[in-house]
Amino acid sequence: MRNQNQRVLIISGIITTVVVFVIGLLIGRFGICKNEDSKSTYAKPDYLVDEADPTIADLLMNGIDADRIRENLRYLTSRPHLAGTDGNNVLARHLKTAWEEAGLDHVTLTPYDVLLSYPNMSDLNYVALLDDNDTIQYKSDLREPALTNENQTEVVPPFNAYSAPGDIKGTLVYVNYGRVEDYEHLSSKNINISGKIAFARYGKIYRGDKVHLAEMRGAIGVILFSDPEDVTSGDIKQVYPKDWWLPSTGTQRGSLLIGDGDPETADYPSIATAFRENTTDFYLPSIPCHPIGYGIARHLMSNLAGEEVHDSWRGGMNVTYKYGDAFTNNGWKAHIHVSTQNQRAVIYNTIGVIRGAVEPDRYVLLGNHRDAWVFGAQDPSSGTAVMWELATVMGNLVKTEKWRPRRSILFCSWGAEEYGLTGSAEWVEHYSKSLGPRAVAYLNVDIAVEGNFSLEAEGTPMVYTSLVQASKKVANPGSEEIKAGHPTVYDTWMATFPDEKFGRPEISLPGAGSDYSTFRDRLGIPVMDVRFTWNRRYKVSSYPMYHSAYETFYLVDKIMDRGFKYHAAIGKLWAEIARDMADSLILPFNITDYAVVMEDLGKTFVQRFQSDMANHGLDTALLIHAIANFSTAVQDFQVRVKTVDKSNPFAIRRINDQLMNLNRAFLDPAGLPGRRLKRHILFAESNVDSYSGSSFPGLADALTEIRQGHDVDEQWKRVKKHYSVILYAIQAAASTLKSVDDFMYDHL
Ligand SMILES: *[C@@H]1O[C@H](CO)[C@@H](O)[C@H](O)[C@H]1NC(C)=O
Ligand SMILES: *[C@@H]1O[C@H](CO)[C@@H](O)[C@H](O)[C@H]1NC(C)=O
Ligand SMILES: *[C@@H]1O[C@H](CO)[C@@H](O)[C@H](O)[C@H]1NC(C)=O
Ligand SMILES: *[C@@H]1O[C@H](CO)[C@@H](O)[C@H](O)[C@H]1NC(C)=O
Ligand SMILES: *[C@@H]1O[C@H](CO)[C@@H](O)[C@H](O)[C@H]1NC(C)=O
Ligand SMILES: *[C@@H]1O[C@H](CO)[C@@H](O)[C@H](O)[C@H]1NC(C)=O
Ligand SMILES: *[C@@H]1O[C@H](CO)[C@@H](O)[C@H](O)[C@H]1NC(C)=O
Ligand SMILES: *[C@@H]1O[C@H](CO)[C@@H](O)[C@H](O)[C@H]1NC(C)=O
Ligand SMILES: *[C@@H]1O[C@H](CO)[C@@H](O)[C@H](O)[C@H]1NC(C)=O
Repeated sequence: MRNQNQRVLIISGIITTVVVFVIGLLIGRFGICKNEDSKSTYAKPDYLVDEADPTIADLLMNGIDADRIRENLRYLTSRPHLAGTDGNNVLARHLKTAWEEAGLDHVTLTPYDVLLSYPNMSDLNYVALLDDNDTIQYKSDLREPALTNENQTEVVPPFNAYSAPGDIKGTLVYVNYGRVEDYEHLSSKNINISGKIAFARYGKIYRGDKVHLAEMRGAIGVILFSDPEDVTSGDIKQVYPKDWWLPSTGTQRGSLLIGDGDPETADYPSIATAFRENTTDFYLPSIPCHPIGYGIARHLMSNLAGEEVHDSWRGGMNVTYKYGDAFTNNGWKAHIHVSTQNQRAVIYNTIGVIRGAVEPDRYVLLGNHRDAWVFGAQDPSSGTAVMWELATVMGNLVKTEKWRPRRSILFCSWGAEEYGLTGSAEWVEHYSKSLGPRAVAYLNVDIAVEGNFSLEAEGTPMVYTSLVQASKKVANPGSEEIKAGHPTVYDTWMATFPDEKFGRPEISLPGAGSDYSTFRDRLGIPVMDVRFTWNRRYKVSSYPMYHSAYETFYLVDKIMDRGFKYHAAIGKLWAEIARDMADSLILPFNITDYAVVMEDLGKTFVQRFQSDMANHGLDTALLIHAIANFSTAVQDFQVRVKTVDKSNPFAIRRINDQLMNLNRAFLDPAGLPGRRLKRHILFAESNVDSYSGSSFPGLADALTEIRQGHDVDEQWKRVKKHYSVILYAIQAAASTLKSVDDFMYDHL
């Protein structure tokens, strides 16, 4: 039984607790100043070394609302929003207001005046087939006919941005996908495209590389088309608006620029004081190029003469595929009319900030572009709709003081990705000195839902663990998949893209498909890009409606993601990874994964090129040895992480700094051989296909050229120099992981 004294003690204890609590609340409520080092809502003295609050993960994920994402998407797609146009700039301002209301601490619009490209609206582009009297026999539609009831007024007709203007006539040669190996095949048939028009199907490689490769071989123009094999199920009646497959009139727009950012201000931001010039860092075509659908492409193909193509070149049109180099009717010609002009325009990025509570000068970035070719319901607005929801949910937790992340979180809505990653590249160039050294990671979602089946991802190896763990926490949005025994996003992902070698789902090295490129190449920070994709039983190159006017709200709402469950699932995944990186006391970068991937890259490289290298006196054992040294440094570092004094904020900061700087050590300020703006020596897109990532890209490109017999002596010099740079960089990276008094190598 309790006596009176105990009671008094308990009551006064309760009173004291309540008083302290109220005072704490008052400090929390009124004591927050705008100083960036303020303690904010953290009242505990040891808040500097608090572990992340595990309950926040569910709070964030459960806050994500599919209906709100649907409303966001409806708004974003209500009007075309091409880069540099009013439609896109209105959205930039709308997001700023919405994010401010949502509770973000600060939202900025960052404008850049950049070189874009538009067709002349009173002189539209087309492709035609002319008879021997130059009379038009077949002509492409000037616009894609509307199939649902969107307002068509501001829909830009099909065009390829940065195409040279021109009006040309000539012989047509079918070049399959227009890859290097396709030209090798043509030359085995003694077909030369010099002075002729290349007729290439979309797919496999970046369209800008198709035009570049054709131009280098002397082509005078390029016609790009979508082949039914790549964009339909085989049944050309089962297409939009009935299904997600591309109809015969559907046409893929897209840029031809090779290089990241405004081509007139390479490496510098396009701000008011910028000096503008064209440099060899970028490729802009000097020949005209125009895209068409398979309805008209079929007429071009059916009139081609010449030998029937090799099996692998045959596509899905119900005509005989021929190499061409002549038409069946003597004197007929292909005709390309392009009025497209380069034009400077102002673009806006919208950047929203949630200030971190403990380490506000460490930034976790979330990004997605806003500009679309037309309505952009998949690319990129599915991603923007989700990012907007994340800002709403996180902003609300901050506003209601339920949460403030340890580190700052930035939401980035880019203004002109489609033209050449321009919004993000200009911003990275602009803030590389202030943001660059303090950025933790860049997490991109370009298209949230390009299909409704499995997750697909690419990224820097040190983010793999965080990504995989987050995917295990998100319920599978596919009810069929749940029935099939795959309860989480991870399960379907692992079943669809297993990477047997590493016992995890396959994650590609980052290519150059989206805005993360400049973060990887210039800032050297870890990057990631995720999306839901289609079932791989369909062998298509991209999702069928890609960059057409049929990427509408109707398509997403009625066909792709009824109920917006896949959108919500990507939102949960994205939010959880961001929370993990923003809140974890020690950054959740698993650098053992980095070492494991490097060992694999090293082995693959040696298998491919050992004898070529040895014949020129280059010892590939050195590479293996350097990587082994790196792995040892990683292991030692992991031991120090396990034993670090977690009550010492400086010790924690030191470990985190090392984690942050590891990936930066692989930047070479001189750039890859011949590509000075590509500065990450391990990861860059391939030189002949800007979409796909390649490893030791500087070496692999040069050695491939050598094997093809191009410029052999010069290329060997490059290989020797670059090999030494790689060996040095790996050693430099290992040294960033060493303890403070032992980062140097002894020379005995
Ligand atoms: C656009 O086309 C019209 C009609 O051919 C022409 O008069 C005009 O000069 C063109 N505009 C530009 C900017 O070339
Ligand atoms: C081209 O014009 C000539 C003379 O006008 C005519 O004889 C011929 O039939 C025409 N060819 C075609 C394909 O229309
Ligand atoms: C279509 O869009 C244009 C340009 O924004 C606008 O002027 C017009 O009123 C719209 N038409 C309809 C039917 O909404
Ligand atoms: C193709 O033709 C052009 C011009 O006739 C010539 O210069 C070039 O060497 C030829 N290319 C090949 C691969 O034969
Ligand atoms: C750069 O090249 C593009 C395309 O040829 C051209 O439109 C532009 O005016 C050039 N800019 C400068 C500064 O020379
Ligand atoms: C081939 O496809 C076209 C539509 O693209 C159709 O009109 C035609 O009937 C088809 N021909 C055959 C022989 O199937
Ligand atoms: C998933 O996409 C397919 C098209 O691939 C569509 O037919 C189907 O309705 C979609 N499923 C859901 C649940 O939205
Ligand atoms: C880090 O990566 C390694 C190699 O893939 C793996 O064995 C380890 O379990 C990972 N660590 C964590 C904490 O997941
Ligand atoms: C590996 O590390 C040792 C020192 O531990 C050093 O002597 C050696 O040069 C390094 N090897 C390479 C290839 O970096």
